[in-house]
Parts: sequence; C-alpha cells; structure tokens
Amino acid sequence: MKPPKPIYSCQQCGAQSPKWLGRCPECGAWNSFVEEAAPRVAPDARGAAPVLGGGQAHRYADVDTVIAERLGTGVSEFDRVLGGGLVPGSLVLLGGEPGIGKSTLLLQAAAHFASSVGPVLYCSGEESEHQIKLRGERLGVGRVPLYLLAETCVERLQDEVARLKPALLIVDSIQTVFSLKLPSAPGSVGQVRQAATDLLFGAKGRNLPTILVGHVTKDGSLAGPKVLEHVVDTVLYFEGGQQHAHRVVRAVKNRFGAANELGVFEMTGAGLRPVANPSALFLAERPKNVPGSSVLCTVEGSRPILVEVQALVGTATFGNARRTASGLDHNRLALLLAVLDKRAGLNLSTDDVYVNVAGGVTIDEPAADLAVVAAVASSLRNRAIASDVVVFGEVGLAGEVRATAQAPLRVREAAQLGFTRCVLPDGNVPPAEAPPGVQLVGVRTVGEALDALM
Ligand code: TYD
Ligand code: MG
Repeated sequence: MKPPKPIYSCQQCGAQSPKWLGRCPECGAWNSFVEEAAPRVAPDARGAAPVLGGGQAHRYADVDTVIAERLGTGVSEFDRVLGGGLVPGSLVLLGGEPGIGKSTLLLQAAAHFASSVGPVLYCSGEESEHQIKLRGERLGVGRVPLYLLAETCVERLQDEVARLKPALLIVDSIQTVFSLKLPSAPGSVGQVRQAATDLLFGAKGRNLPTILVGHVTKDGSLAGPKVLEHVVDTVLYFEGGQQHAHRVVRAVKNRFGAANELGVFEMTGAGLRPVANPSALFLAERPKNVPGSSVLCTVEGSRPILVEVQALVGTATFGNARRTASGLDHNRLALLLAVLDKRAGLNLSTDDVYVNVAGGVTIDEPAADLAVVAAVASSLRNRAIASDVVVFGEVGLAGEVRATAQAPLRVREAAQLGFTRCVLPDGNVPPAEAPPGVQLVGVRTVGEALDALM
C-alpha cells in the first residue's frame, strides 16, 4: 500500500493544499503552511463513525419539540450571555486574550455548577492541578464535587468523562489538547479540528454540556481553523482592556439565544464579580456640566447600556489637524465631522478632534452618531450639555437624523437611571412613549438636535 500523501494546511485559517505554498491563497498569511499527514479513512469506517441522531431521517412533523431546559451556572452575567444558562449537550467556545480571566470565570462557574447541578470535570492542559487549586482558594471554592484533571490527550480525557460521568465538562484550552488519531503537534489546525470534533460528538452523544477555552491571535480572532467556530453551538468572546477593571463577555454566535448578548464583569481580588447594572458603572465618574460630554444609550444584544461620549476640540498646531477616536470607528468620526462641517456649519478643518468613549467600551452601532456629534459640538462651542439628557440616533450624510432600532428600550433605561430628557430621532417618538418623568425631544436634523441640546 502506498503511504498516504502529506497534505499542507495553513495554520491561520485551515486552508489545505497538496503542496507547500509560501502564501496562503485564502487568508494571505505568509509562511503559514505546515505539513500534516492526510487522515486515513478505512474502507469500513462507516460502522465506527459517531452517529448524531440514530442514522435515520425523520419526518418534520414527527420530530418532538423540546424546549431546551437551561442549567444555570450560578454566575448571573455568564448565564445571561448564554441566553439563560447552559443547554444540555451544547458545545460552547470561550475565546479571549491571555490573562483576561477565562480560567477564572470558568472555575467560578464550575464551582457554582458543581454545588447546584452536579459534578464538574475541569480539564486543563495549561496549568497543573495545584495551580488551579491555588486560584480556587482565592475564589473561595468550597467542598463541591469539582474534579480537576491535568490532561492533554483527548482520548484519555474522554475515558475520564466515561468514568466520572460529570454534568459539565470544561476544557482549558482546545489548543493544548491533541488526539492520538493524528501525528501532528497540539495546537496545529488538524489537531484542533480533530479534538473539537471528538468533543462535539462526546457532548452530543452524552448530552453533556461542554465549554472549550480558545486562544486568540494577535488581531483578536480565534486561533485555529474557522471550522472550530462552525462546529460549536455558541461562541463567546472575552473583551476588555487589562487597564480597566471591567470585562465584557460577548456572544457572537448562539444557536440557543440572542447573538451580541453581553455580560459585564468586574475583576476583583476574589475573582470576577458580575455587574448587574453596567450603566451605573460606566457613568460613575462622569463629570457634570463640562463641555464635550454627552450620554449615549446604546444597545448590545438585548441590553441597553448608557455610556459617556467625550470629545475635545482644540486648535491644531502647525496646521495639520489630528483626529483620534477610541472606542469608536475612526472613519465614522471623519464622516460625522464632515457632516457637521457641511450641514451644521461648524468649521472644524483647523481643529484637532479627540473623541473617546469613557470606560474603555467599544461602540459600533450607528445610533451613537448623534451623541458623538453632540459631544464635538459641545466642546467646540464650549457649552455643556445638561447632565440629565440622554442622546441617541443615526446621522445621515444629508445631516438628517434617522430612526434607530429598539428606541423604547433605550428610553426606559435612561428613565431608570434618572435622566429626564431624551433627544432622539423624530421617527422614533411615537413608538417610544415617554415613561413618567422623561421628556422626549424628537429631532429631524443635526441642526435641530444641537439647538435642542445647547
Ligand atoms: P486567567 O483567568 O488566568 O486568564 P486566562 O485564563 O484568560 O489567561 O486571568 C487571571 C488574571 O486575572 C491574572 O492576571 C490575575 C487576575 N486575577 C485577579 O485579579 N483576581 C483573581 O481573583 C484572580 C483569580 C485573577
Ligand atoms: Mg487560562
């Protein structure tokens, strides 16, 4: 029998090629191809292949509707991003930069889960049992049925799962585990794909919820093959700078809940603390009655959050104006400044403009436009916006203010935090009826908005 031909895979995106290539034609990465042995498929492999649904097709009408029950992890914000808790048999991937708190969060969730639902197997290929225990001591993990396993071989891991029959499996991280079926090194594209698929069949076959930790690359996307994100049911990202105490877990894919759902945590000396009211956290240090500050009500998933948008406009030195945006798209800022210039008559061509979303939050929804415009105009005119006003709305190139989604939700959140006036797109005024104590000011253009605010 001829030996199997090697196959080359890109370690960035998982693209395959029969010969070595200097540059990946799929993702453009240089020198990313590594030789891997092609998987051998035995002619009678069908019998050994794992089966997801009994191997037979069923008529749509005959398939039972199961309302997925949810297993609460005991960490409220984590349950929220998951869409209300873990679904039995689901596979969840949690990605994030090193040191952001993935292991901390999962150990906390594991301890709560073990005490309320059932035994948990925490398998780590990165830390020894002693290291995990040391962290557990800090987090105050008590005497719960939590099992620690330092293991990197997925087959041995599954033997241990068969022996312990846990109610939850955590694998920290998918890049450290390897399968004996492939000769390549742990972390390579082939191994990650194989290990994730093995764990997927384990999760579905045993109805065992499984959480995988995933590393991210320099540009912030999950390391390893794209297929990893396809096989799992839920992809969560851990975000937030190390400089800030708060961390955000965001769902980017969820087969059992809303994508873009957000969970907010604060890193403390005793682990991650869920933040039930993030608006209060983000507005805590807001200076009152200072020019260049506006309060925006943004919506992440199904959750409204109030954040402060700050702007500073100053005369540019040496004639080259600088524009800096943090927490906001740079190009969007340039567009909004052009609209201000052309449609509202605010000349900013010789000024430096710095815009910042306070608290290290990143906002990418167009509803933020009006708050940015308001903060810039406020700084330029050196007139403060009243501290009890909330703003949101999308700004178009003609200077018009367009309606945004979920306006009633935003208005309600503002009312809850004691804001008394809300400047919003005119098109949103009828659906968003004013809660008691809040005055709604509908605006049609940027000019009207600035008049209403200052
Ligand atoms: P860790 O959970 O190990 O991160 P990851 O698994 O994502 O790489 O992150 C731990 C970081 O958080 C580390 O820098 C120390 C800090 N930390 C606290 O501030 N408080 C704590 O209670 C714990 C356990 C960690
Ligand atoms: Mg870790």
